[in-house]
Order: sequence, then C-alpha cells, then structure tokens
Amino acid sequence: MNKPNFKDAMNRCKIATEYEDLQENYKPVFIGKKYFLRTYGCQMNVHDSEQIRSYLETLGYEECLSLEESDIVVLNTCAVRENAKDKVIGFLGRAKHLKKTKKDLIICICGCLMQEPNEVDNIQEKHPYVDIVVGTHNLHELPNLIMNRINKQSINVYSNSNQVYENVQYSRDSKISAWVNITYGCNNFCTYCIVPYTRGRERSRKPEAILNEIRGLKAAGYKEITLLGQNVNSYGKDLEEDYPFSKLLEEVAKIGIERVRFVTSNPWNFTDELIGVVAKYDNVMPYIHLPIQSGSNEVLKKMNRPYTVEEYKRLFDKIKQAVPNVAITTDIIVGFPNETEEDFQQTLDLVNYCKYDGAFTFIYSKREGTIAAKMDDKVSLEEKEDRLYRLNEVVNHYSLEKNKTYEGIEVPVLIVGESEKDSSKVYGYTETNKLVNVEAPKSVIGSIINVKITEAKSFSLDGKMIL
Ligand code: 5AD
Ligand code: SF4
Repeated sequence: MNKPNFKDAMNRCKIATEYEDLQENYKPVFIGKKYFLRTYGCQMNVHDSEQIRSYLETLGYEECLSLEESDIVVLNTCAVRENAKDKVIGFLGRAKHLKKTKKDLIICICGCLMQEPNEVDNIQEKHPYVDIVVGTHNLHELPNLIMNRINKQSINVYSNSNQVYENVQYSRDSKISAWVNITYGCNNFCTYCIVPYTRGRERSRKPEAILNEIRGLKAAGYKEITLLGQNVNSYGKDLEEDYPFSKLLEEVAKIGIERVRFVTSNPWNFTDELIGVVAKYDNVMPYIHLPIQSGSNEVLKKMNRPYTVEEYKRLFDKIKQAVPNVAITTDIIVGFPNETEEDFQQTLDLVNYCKYDGAFTFIYSKREGTIAAKMDDKVSLEEKEDRLYRLNEVVNHYSLEKNKTYEGIEVPVLIVGESEKDSSKVYGYTETNKLVNVEAPKSVIGSIINVKITEAKSFSLDGKMIL
C-alpha cells in the first residue's frame, strides 16, 4: 500500500525528468464484462479517462452507460473545488448499494482527489467496499491492479513524480478532435490551488514524441488537436535543449492539421514569439484562454499570481492587436479570503475593460493543504454568492454582445456531433471556439463547413449551412 502525503507532493527539488516507454501488452481476460466510467473535472482528466478507457477495453471490457449494468466502475475524480468532491462521494453511495446485490462488482477511484491524504484516509475508513485506489502519477498500474485484484482494498498513490510516460494508448472520445498532453504538473503554487499537490512538478514531453503523436493523429483523419498543459507557456523549461512553447506550436502548425488549439496559457511567459506564431498560422486558432483570477493587485499578490493587472492589460491588448478577431476568455475567482468590496469592484472594472468573450467564474473554495486555506477569512458565503451573481451579470452581458457581432455573417464551423436537443441539427465550433447549432445534414459531421449565423445567444449561436 502506498498512500500520498503533501510534504512530498510539495517537493520542489529539481530532479531531471525521466522518460519511460510504456510497452504494455494486456490480454482481453474480461470479455463479456462491462465498465462504467465517470469523469469529473478539467480537460486533463477527460484525457486521462481516454487512457483509462483504453486499458479497460484492452482487458476486454465493453462500455455501458448505466451503473447498474456494470461489472467495474471507475470514478476519475477532481479536487479543484469542494463541490467536485461532494459529487464523487454521492456517487459512491450508489455504487456501494449496487455492490450489496452484485458481490463481484469492482469499484475503483482514481484522479486528483485520491492524491489528497485526507481523502484516501476517508476511503480507507468509511468506504472499505472500494476495491482499488490509484493516483495520477501511476495510472498505468491500473490494468495490473485490476487483473491481480485481491480481496482487500488496494491503495496505490504516489505523492510526486519526475516521470513522463510515452507511448500511452488512448481510446479517444472523438475521431475529429483530440487532446495532446505537452506538459504534466505545475510549479506555480497559486495559493488557492490544489493542482501542484495532485499533479506534481512541471514536466515536459519531448518535442519529437509530441510531434509524432500529432502526425499520427493527422494520418488518422483528425481535424483538430488541443495541446494540453497546466501552463503551456512553460513548456520546455525543464528540457535540456532550448525548446520554447512558441517553437513547439510552430512545428505543430506546420504538420498541417486543420485546427490547432492550446490550454491553459497563463499570463506569464506569454512571449511575443508566441503571439507571433498565433498570428502567423491560419491553422492556429484565434482563441486564447487567459486566466486573470482577480482584478485587484492586492489579491493577485496573495494568490501568488506573478503579474499585475497593468501587465495583464498590456498583454491582453498586445494579443488583441496582433491577432485579428481573436476571442479571449478567462477564469475568475470571487471571495478569495478577505477580498474586499473594493477588490471585487476592481475585478468588475477589469471585465469591463477586457469585455471577454466568456469567463468561467467561481466562488473561492478552501482546499486543505494549500496556503490560502490557512488565511483568515471574514467574508460571508452570502456576500461571495452575491459577488458571483453580480460578476456573472457583467460577464454574460459581454458574452452576448460578442456573440451578437456574429449575427448575419458567415463563419467556418468544425462540426463535431449531432445536437442533443434537436436531432435535426448538428453542432460544432467556430475558429474562436464558439458553440454553434447548425441546420445541416448529419453527413457533415467531421467537416469544416461555412455557416451563416442567424441568432446569437449568451452561450451559443444558431446558424444555417451555406452550400
Ligand atoms: N476555488 C475556486 N476556484 C478555483 N480554481 C482553482 N482552484 C480553485 C479554488 N480553490 C479555478 C481557477 C482555475 C480554474 C481551473 O479553477 O480559476 O483557473
Ligand atoms: Fe493551479 Fe496556478 Fe498551477 Fe493553474 S497555474 S494549475 S491555478 S497552481
């Protein structure tokens, strides 16, 4: 049994990244059995679930969409806010109930929540019916843990890692759009954030491994790839060779896949070279997610965000100027410990300045083990909720205003699926990452088509295919 601890998870000591080739061969020993996989949280987790799916399918399991039908349940958890945890614990109750009648059911939990020592203790003490606990650093051990399952809870979580695994197999959700990891972990330790503790130190994949993966995706017909990292701008800083993110992005663009995106690009290490590559290549999409978190310099400092509001605005303006029609979105936290009304007003001022295409807004959630969790906080939840409400009013106003500028114009849209609400429609995304519901036949799924926008809403556009 290996349990995590935050002391090791915080370890900043620089150990060279080790690269390991996963040459795994598993046999389909569970043919006829079914798996139920539920994913919580960010794109990184969504992509990890594609790895989990590949393991389960190689072992012979087939996916099912109801918990009751399943022989194995895998919950890929998120720890970034308290409500993500509540959902997992709620779902575990259902799985426990099912296990009463289905004794052989295997219950497995992985993901960020399992990197938290308290949560692992909780599973051990209060949820003994959980069979397997595996962490973010050793997901590749999951198939062995399933095959060699013992009649006892098995906990295998490591606190930190200097490892990068290559040749990971994925059973991808989409045949059109693919996630590609470029870095793992984070070194920034924003004081509110649990991610540096759950995902370990920043490690970059080698450029050739990334470029080869993308060449393979192009050959397989993928139309879009999104480069993934907690902070993609830091790519290459730990590599022996000088290989900044701008260079990687340029090499990726040259492969010639139709659409290239990246997340998350924080407002530091965002170089002029990087802006230049986004501006130069038509297949690098004019869409940037640029988290601000707060419009108050005081709060940014307490959050350990390494920029000021003034620096952020300068970067924002530079991107807007260099990349025509760029869409910029952001993340904002309200109610950070002792955020004053004045701090909050400065956040509103910033939103009024940037007029974002969209923003993901959150109430600060205390994460045990982080620096902010020890900060004194006199702001009531009621006040925080009120700030979130007021912020969303402003954010939504600008989202709608931006979307309205699309009305009546024609834009290329990559169609990715059938509309869930209306089966006579399909849906896809503009270059600027806006969701569009389109009147068009299903045969266009997987193609980039021209769409005339007929109506703008706050969170989506409606349109018609132009022949
Ligand atoms: N409370 C609220 N929001 C958080 N985020 C990260 N940690 C917390 C927290 N403790 C938000 C940040 C980040 C996004 C992915 O989640 O805005 O950019
Ligand atoms: Fe968390 Fe900050 Fe790292 Fe983003 S950059 S993952 S918010 S610590």
